[in-house]
Amino acid sequence: MKIQNITCIGAGYVGGPTMSVIADRCPHIRVTVVDMNAERIAAWNSDHIPIFEPGLDAVVKRARGENLFFSTDIDAAIKSADCIFMSVNTPTKTEGEGAGRAADLKYIIACAEQIARSAQDHTIVVEKSTLPVRTAEKIKEILAKNSKQSFDVLSNPEFLAEGTAIKDLENPDRVLIGGENPEAIAALFEVYAQWVAKEKIITTNVWSAEMAKLAANAMLAQRVSSINSLSAFCEATEADIDEVAKVLGSDSRIGSKFLKAGIGFGGSCFKKDILNLVYLCEHHGLPEVAAYWEQVLVMNDWQKKRIAQLVIKKLGGQVKGKKIAVLGFAFKKDTNDTREAPAILVCETLLQAGAEVVVFDPKVSAQKVQADLSYLSTHQSHLKSANTVNDACVGVDAVIVLTEWDQFKMIDWASVATQTKKSAWIFDARNCTNHAAIRAAGLNLWVVGK
Ligand code: NAD
Ligand code: UGA
Repeated sequence: MKIQNITCIGAGYVGGPTMSVIADRCPHIRVTVVDMNAERIAAWNSDHIPIFEPGLDAVVKRARGENLFFSTDIDAAIKSADCIFMSVNTPTKTEGEGAGRAADLKYIIACAEQIARSAQDHTIVVEKSTLPVRTAEKIKEILAKNSKQSFDVLSNPEFLAEGTAIKDLENPDRVLIGGENPEAIAALFEVYAQWVAKEKIITTNVWSAEMAKLAANAMLAQRVSSINSLSAFCEATEADIDEVAKVLGSDSRIGSKFLKAGIGFGGSCFKKDILNLVYLCEHHGLPEVAAYWEQVLVMNDWQKKRIAQLVIKKLGGQVKGKKIAVLGFAFKKDTNDTREAPAILVCETLLQAGAEVVVFDPKVSAQKVQADLSYLSTHQSHLKSANTVNDACVGVDAVIVLTEWDQFKMIDWASVATQTKKSAWIFDARNCTNHAAIRAAGLNLWVVGK
């Protein structure tokens, strides 16, 4: 079994970058990325690829048209593939059994049905999406029921983080391949072994691989909620969250990564994957385990609401008619992704309290900001976007920093202070700005965990 033709269904934040790196590192493999979203595919084939991710442009430019192709012809791409990655979205279910918690597998099921209809030979089907434990069983059933071909189903979850996706893909901590058939596992192993050290490629049974992905996200999110709970405790006691995090992080059993206090985690995965874990724990009769992990989410929501309310309190208990600049709308730096971005809840709270909000984000468009808050139809006219930090800060009573973009470290606060109202408040919810410069400019400063 040798992989020569890969098709990836789903040209999103995972499928696009992952397949670009595979194509770049494996010139002998033809890689086709397909999606039902024609606009997204057109963007992948243009000079303006749909995802902002440092380093991605260069990789796409090298491989596209050589051995990397983006297409909407899903059936043709399935027919020609010996290995198909399923990298479609797996959002939280909004209706039916498990609504609000369980993962919605409708896109995965549609993929499996389509693969069954069009596959022409033995095909390795790879779960790249993050899925509930034992989904491979369901996929196998669909394939067997709807096709005469033979299939192997592997689980190869993705651990990349947005903003560092290319670095993570080119030099991963580990690659995980779960499967039953050693031949199929070996074939996918061989693909990654083209650029990843063999000892970093972990092979397991399918269920461990599915489970490990959910568990990894839960453990990471838990660290953010833990440090954020302590950030509030620091604010109440004059302990300093940076000093506390440094002490915690220097214990090698704990480690220094993922201990940065902030506004709370966002992104498309932590919340949905923990909800899914909670649902699965309940399903397996483990309510205490479910409640334990759910608390990670409760703490995350609490941190976002706490900081939004704190802004209102510091501005005299009401913000009606006040003008507030929001710096950073993406859920973290170096991405244009706003899914579950904490900025959405903060803006909502301020708009509902009557404030005027002006958003600046280096990579998120004004249209995207409007679209993300369009559910607040009555407040739309009080939401604006600006093209620079200084423009956002004209006449404001307060500035809130919600994403840790590198350019915010270098803000010229003396210049900003000439735009804002006198003694305006700066709320640094990411602890990422030049605090001395803010104070020197005569502005009031609040920093998370300080
Ligand atoms: P995404 O929404 O950016 O992309 C998914 C794409 O799949 C969309 O473009 C959609 O049009 C397409 N699609 C859905 N059903 C389809 C079908 N039947 N046929 C063709 N195309 C179809 O999602 P994403 O962020 O890339 O995430 C994909 C999966 O990877 C999720 O399960 C997620 O949990 C997981 N994951 C995401 C990240 C991340 O950083 N975003 C990291 C690791 C794992
Ligand atoms: C996360 C995981 O890090 C990836 O390993 C995983 O593959 C991915 O989810 C997924 O399954 O989708 P991602 O959500 O892209 O990646 O970004 P992270 O860097 O993990 O950040 C998540 C959120 O936590 C961001 O809002 C970030 O600002 C916040 N965070 C992170 C903190 O507040 N403090 C930290 O110390 C670290």
